[in-house]
Amino acid sequence: MTASVTSETSRSVRLKTATRDSHGALDKRIMAGDIFANRSNFARFLRVQYRFHRSIDALYANPALDALLPDLHERRRLQQVRRDLQDLEQTLPGADIAALGDDLALPAALGWLYVAEGSNLGGTVLYKMAAALGLDRDFGARHLAAHPDGAARHWREFTAALDAVVLTADQEQQVIDAADTAFRSVHGHVEREFC
Ligand code: HEM
Repeated sequence: MTASVTSETSRSVRLKTATRDSHGALDKRIMAGDIFANRSNFARFLRVQYRFHRSIDALYANPALDALLPDLHERRRLQQVRRDLQDLEQTLPGADIAALGDDLALPAALGWLYVAEGSNLGGTVLYKMAAALGLDRDFGARHLAAHPDGAARHWREFTAALDAVVLTADQEQQVIDAADTAFRSVHGHVEREFC
């Protein structure tokens, strides 16, 4: 039987389906940058991650989100990305990064956080590949290291909370639109850093 997306499908699964194209295009674009060829190429990827995590950083201090999502504060990864960049003796990307405000509407914030948290799953694949460059959780690839409880479990705890938030149909669409915007925004960071 073919799986179909119905209103009974969980929000996180609907998000995955709705952003398949923007995620796929991003993966492809990043891998086309040959980020595991050498540390200098990998640093470009780190700069993209820095831009992304810098742009969403205010969300981790949002009390309304904190009340809904487990361990929100601990999920923040900007500092790990910063240390990864410093390990590779990179200057930090500039002050031109457009950051989201802490007043972003809740549905949009959920969409952005879905993308940030989900990227940890793909991150586990990238973490293994980074070993070939001598990078790991202590040097250069800290932000890609799986949570001690396991990346899959940590993700399920997040999606369970995300799926439980009660939203109107309009807000539901806002979550999806924001997740798509988040993927496209990361794509923009890639275009900037991989030119
Ligand atoms: C070359 C780079 C990337 C590769 C190879 C990749 C690969 C993957 C893979 C294999 C998964 C599925 C993991 C699983 O289900 O166990 C995944 C999930 C995900 N990735 Fe990526 N990814 C990359 C970059 C990114 C980036 C930069 C972002 C966002 C900033 C991102 C966001 C996501 C999200 C949101 C999910 C969760 C999808 C879901 O299950 O709902 N990925 N990625």
